[in-house]
Amino acid sequence: MSAIDPLDLIDPQSYGRKGYPWQAWARLRREAPLEHFEPEGFPAFWAVTKHADVVEISKQPEIFLNGPGMTIARNQDLEANAAPPIRTIINMDAPDHRQFRGIASAYFTPRAVAKLQPLVEKTARDLVDELGREGECDFIPQVASIHPLKIIARILGVPESDEPFILKLTNELFGSEDPEFQRGEDRQENMRTLFAEFWGYFTKVIESRRKQPRDDLASVIANARIDGQPMGDLETMGYCLITFTAGHETTRGSIGGGLDVLMDNPDQLDRWRRDPGITPHAIDEIVRYVTPVNHMMRTASRDYTLRGKKIREGDHLVLFYASANRDEEVFERPDALDLGRHPNRHLGFGIGEHFCLGANLARMTSGTLFRELTGRLESVERTGPSERTASNLVPGLKHLPIRYRIAPAA
Ligand code: HEM
Repeated sequence: MSAIDPLDLIDPQSYGRKGYPWQAWARLRREAPLEHFEPEGFPAFWAVTKHADVVEISKQPEIFLNGPGMTIARNQDLEANAAPPIRTIINMDAPDHRQFRGIASAYFTPRAVAKLQPLVEKTARDLVDELGREGECDFIPQVASIHPLKIIARILGVPESDEPFILKLTNELFGSEDPEFQRGEDRQENMRTLFAEFWGYFTKVIESRRKQPRDDLASVIANARIDGQPMGDLETMGYCLITFTAGHETTRGSIGGGLDVLMDNPDQLDRWRRDPGITPHAIDEIVRYVTPVNHMMRTASRDYTLRGKKIREGDHLVLFYASANRDEEVFERPDALDLGRHPNRHLGFGIGEHFCLGANLARMTSGTLFRELTGRLESVERTGPSERTASNLVPGLKHLPIRYRIAPAA
């Protein structure tokens, strides 16, 4: 495996410059599906590239832990973050994880999400209307980013006027290595000030909901109790942060990445336009094909043998969802976008205990926007190169310049 540079798999800068390493993953799946790497500047890790292995690991959360670190990060960042400023459910293991996850889960059931449909439809229609009959735009900041931001802001209950501020902080968090978003040269200092701002902002939101609860998720989080006691500050802030940022950046990735791949597959765009009924399958296929959340990490709590290889207690395993989603042993023609693909056993939302809490919401939010868009788009083309965020976690497009013609709303 000497020819594969592990930095292509995990270095955020590499994702910004070259995008997802599809060819390296295909080779790993073929020749070394579970390979150990020791890259410079990062912790050693096992690259998990096969669908079956991602499933086997994810379904044993008592052996493969999230607590020691949810993503692979540079050694220097890991040392600096040894005491994380917040605690989120994605970083928790049993028994805490299930208890804390239960606090917000009622907000994300299919029934709860269905209640949001009118709001999501209006937001989608307004955004498409705002584009006008024809013109040019950068689809990411003007549409892909705004739609999920508005929805998650309403669910959490923060005012519309605060959306630009939250968007800026979210970009800075996920794009902490991206020159366009990072605050300054010193990443540790950037993270410290960034968390301080999140903390300051959400402290005010939480205090106001403790005084006067409303019908929103912030009120549920602010007044949650664990074993009869109020939830701690680290966990309260963690909840606000994870629902906001995980709900926004990822959905933006599927909307932006979705339009990008539809432009490469005009037959599929046309198929969607003619048959809006395929939307549920189409959305899952886009999540499979684009895989907005590229990886998550697990740490072994004991020795374990997988594919005949000895994984030692304390070893890190990087689950490359994007690679698993192109696994030729599971998907027919894995590199083809097929909006009618069904069944579709993709792992774009993870699997097991940490399965995406917002999957129903993400499907509905992006499905509604795409139905509005594909139903009205008469033409669309790129007017320049797209650009990707320098991130190994959510390496979505940050710029996608397009020219379009759009029919008026029916
Ligand atoms: C297309 C959009 C989305 C994608 C691709 C996505 C992907 C993922 C993935 C892969 C995980 C699993 C992490 C793991 O196994 O360690 C996850 C977890 C999570 N997602 Fe999403 N997500 C999306 C949208 C959302 C939305 C809209 C929300 C709403 C708030 C959300 C909230 C969460 C939370 C809270 C977790 C942690 C669950 C846990 O640890 O129990 N996500 N997501």
